[in-house]
Amino acid sequence: MIDIISQWKTMSIAEAISGRRSIRMFKSKAVDRGTIKRVVHASLLAPSAHNSQPVRFAVVESSTRKRLLAEMQEVWKQDLARDGFLEDAIQRRIASSNQMIHDAPVLILVSYTMADMHKYPDSKRVKAEETMAVQSVGAAIQNLLLGAHAEGLGSCWVCAPLFAKAVVREVLKMKSELEPQAFILLGYPDEAPEMPERREVEDILRFV
Ligand SMILES: Cc1cc2nc3c(=O)[nH]c(=O)nc-3n(C[C@H](O)[C@H](O)[C@H](O)COP(=O)(O)O)c2cc1C
Repeated sequence: MIDIISQWKTMSIAEAISGRRSIRMFKSKAVDRGTIKRVVHASLLAPSAHNSQPVRFAVVESSTRKRLLAEMQEVWKQDLARDGFLEDAIQRRIASSNQMIHDAPVLILVSYTMADMHKYPDSKRVKAEETMAVQSVGAAIQNLLLGAHAEGLGSCWVCAPLFAKAVVREVLKMKSELEPQAFILLGYPDEAPEMPERREVEDILRFV
């Protein structure tokens, strides 16, 4: 077990939850492997369906990242062209997110596996199990983001892999059982954004 308690004991849960922000600009300072391991360890402490811990992580090194992004970009271009966007607009839409992913000091691909989830003969329960795996991914990622914040790292959850699963699988030579879900960008923050507006609790809660 990695000891995150003594490392992060100075940050209260309230500070962690309210102080975490999506960070899209990072200092060039590298993040060491021990730090990456601690934040990934935090994800393992999240709840998961059947305690199956179905979430998997791959740190995408910069040599692989170039090819991955180039191939993902081709998929997005084709999708946007099919939507009717012109070349200029396509370039603009792709450029900023591509740059952000390219420049992040650490790029982590998050996937899940159904290997240890329950097996059912009918599609209703198969779908429910898949949803549980996806929900487990959300809980794991949130723990990772909070852990990153406690480490003084900035992070951003990026959904791009969902839109280019086939090339992500191919370029990263992933096992076929893995379902790509998200990128997590990590690094020391070079911006301090305000919290984007939130809804009021009364708007999202009802007692029935
Ligand atoms: C499922 C999911 C997908 C997201 N995808 C992206 C993304 O592709 N690009 C991006 O810049 N931010 C992405 N975000 C971050 C959100 O934009 C951000 O969480 C939201 O604006 C609230 O800001 P905060 O994280 O600072 O509280 C994503 C967040 C989630 C949960």
